[in-house]
Amino acid sequence: MTEQQEICQLLSLDDLTPDQFFALLDRAENFLTTSMHRQAPGPLQGRILANLFFEPSTRTRISFEIAARHLGAGFVNFDVMSSSRNKGEADRDTLATLAAMGVSIFVLRTGTAGLPAELAARLAPGCGLISAGEAEVAHPTQGLLDMLTIRRHKPDISGLRVAIVGDIAHSRVARSAVRGLRLMGVKEIRLIGPESFLPDPREMPDTLKGSDLATGIAGADVIMTLRIQSERMPLAEMPDGNDYFQRFGLTERKLAAAAPDAIVMHPGPINRGVELDDEVADGPRSVIREQVKNGVATRMAVLTAIAKSLDALDLGQADRPTRGHRNE
Ligand code: CP
Repeated sequence: MTEQQEICQLLSLDDLTPDQFFALLDRAENFLTTSMHRQAPGPLQGRILANLFFEPSTRTRISFEIAARHLGAGFVNFDVMSSSRNKGEADRDTLATLAAMGVSIFVLRTGTAGLPAELAARLAPGCGLISAGEAEVAHPTQGLLDMLTIRRHKPDISGLRVAIVGDIAHSRVARSAVRGLRLMGVKEIRLIGPESFLPDPREMPDTLKGSDLATGIAGADVIMTLRIQSERMPLAEMPDGNDYFQRFGLTERKLAAAAPDAIVMHPGPINRGVELDDEVADGPRSVIREQVKNGVATRMAVLTAIAKSLDALDLGQADRPTRGHRNE
């Protein structure tokens, strides 16, 4: 990636040019195949990254922390419950406060659509922001790690049939995946789920949409299963878990309809016995743990790109108080 191609923020895969998108995948692939351990000197040496997660997370939150540490950054895990956010501090003031202490990269997860863009527009000079999941809108680093996982298993991208199964309407993972699959140029994207979980017909054009699992996964090379986003719908709209599993839950028997070498993905957290059974989750076609591992390499790639952009912006400016200072 050239300096012109680096990015100061990442809120959505829509923000990336194809060159930037593929450069991030290549950089992540490089971390994966060379070193996923501590870099010395790390490209984030002297920088401080803050994780601000306003919604729960295991994979994304911890993989950003591990990636930041591998790259030599100082790291702050913002504890929402014990923070002054509970005393009414506005999020923009929280970010400005942390920036004044020397934080220059913010990783934000929020259930409020539009908040990442609003905060990115008000960031202190020399700071970058990465979305770690925005409501049902976007989850760009998940989209990147999913595309990396697919590309590593299925290098002949142009012939791929990809089925996304589950709660697509409420899923930021699905929206980022569809964007990533478009950039990669897959042959066919199928969206499969109960009628109420399919996106608005005007959204995600050029995809095949349907509610029959057997038809939807027939001959598919990649099956991406999704969690039901219970936090984004009224309780009355939640399907019964057993009924859902009967219709849409993946089992080895149902998987027989897919391509013989199909891979099964899930962004996690998985709900066993709802989206898929144990045999599929832990079976030979599952790449769910690989997705998690690829997430660390992907976040290392994104953080490196952001740091390079910020370093370029810093050039010619007076030393920032945090540069050259170790914060671990
Ligand atoms: N896939 C994903 O975003 O998982 P977490 O909610 O655990 O971060």
